[in-house]
Amino acid sequence: MNDLSRIPSSASDDIDLYRTVRARMPELANGLSPEDLAAQPMADASPGKWHLAHTSWFFEEMILAAEPGYRPVDPRFRQMFNSYYETLGQRVARPERGLMTRPSVDEVLAYRREIDRRMVDRLSRGLTSGAERYLFALGLHHDQQHQELFLMDLLYLMSRSPLDPAAYAVEPREAPVQPAVGGVTRFEGGLVTIGHDGDGFAFDNEGPAHRTFLQPFALANDLVTNGDWIRFIQDGGYSRPELWLSDGWATVKAKEWTAPLYWHAEGEGGWRVFGLSGLAPVDPAAPVRHISAYEADAYARWAGKRLPTEAEWEHAAVTNPAAFTNLFGEVWQHTSSSYSAYPGFKPTDGTASEYNGKFMANQMVLRGACFATPPGHARATYRNFFYPHQRWAFMGLRLAEDIT
Ligand code: AVJ
Ligand code: FE
Repeated sequence: MNDLSRIPSSASDDIDLYRTVRARMPELANGLSPEDLAAQPMADASPGKWHLAHTSWFFEEMILAAEPGYRPVDPRFRQMFNSYYETLGQRVARPERGLMTRPSVDEVLAYRREIDRRMVDRLSRGLTSGAERYLFALGLHHDQQHQELFLMDLLYLMSRSPLDPAAYAVEPREAPVQPAVGGVTRFEGGLVTIGHDGDGFAFDNEGPAHRTFLQPFALANDLVTNGDWIRFIQDGGYSRPELWLSDGWATVKAKEWTAPLYWHAEGEGGWRVFGLSGLAPVDPAAPVRHISAYEADAYARWAGKRLPTEAEWEHAAVTNPAAFTNLFGEVWQHTSSSYSAYPGFKPTDGTASEYNGKFMANQMVLRGACFATPPGHARATYRNFFYPHQRWAFMGLRLAEDIT
């Protein structure tokens, strides 16, 4: 029932799946105050209330509104909860989402319930065309992406409070972190196929499957840890320009970075880290989190290694998944690949064409998934993407190297 790797087929399966996926974000919001859910701590992060509304808006615009004579739940919400779809007209600018004191959280939850009622009614009448089925699956995966964004944005918000509030008693996570096994796994390379092959759901940017050539390479079996990162810091990692890309070094200087986001220096070389369950000592054995693509690249250079390309990462994850720890369950992993179209890329038809393709400039691809990625959402072909200076996502790294 929870398996989103297949596009569901019967009306009752569709409804079960819909209810399961949609239940999760309100569960994450449960226990947070209306103030917690309304504030916007930076332009990149949205209020929890906005995520609750926008994911409902998506089903309304992509599926419900397609019915002739459709009457919106509230016509004003069409503008308020549009994220970035130019074809759907005016919208509230992203940095101003925190100014929406109205509708209230209760009104947004009521909007959600009404969309859910209409969606269940729509699903019970049966989705027919392949395009409709795809948009339904897209709506579910979109909701799941925002469940993770909800947690990223909430953590950033809480981190800006002098009270160091724990958003949750324990970090919400799907599975325990896997212990490190050490070593690297070698791959011969050659002509390999990457990308989604058309079976089961994928975002448009994961396809088409295509061949690409890889030189021989090795990929670390484990993620880089906090302990590794502390050695990088102690070796002057953040103060040696020769380790950094020019744009990365400019960012280090401008933002005065000396450690990953959410780290606080404490006493003699000690560190504490802020997370969804509050402030805790940095665990040297845990994988490092909240480092930008610039920092990941500098670390790799310092370590005498490099970041994997996205094709290397995917080839390794598909052909030898058992060799690696934490491929999907801990942090998204930086790659050296810029986010651009695969050969033959075709955006989804219609309004959803704006979903991924238009962001293919100046961002980097991350692979895998993280502790907060909802069940059934991860895939080996998944291409996440962020700008190289961003670090509020649950991101870390796994090193690669050339071999002969
Ligand atoms: C893939 C995480 C960069 O946050 O804009 C949400 C996900 N796409 N709604 C984003 C997404 C449409 C996307 N990221
Ligand atoms: Fe969205």
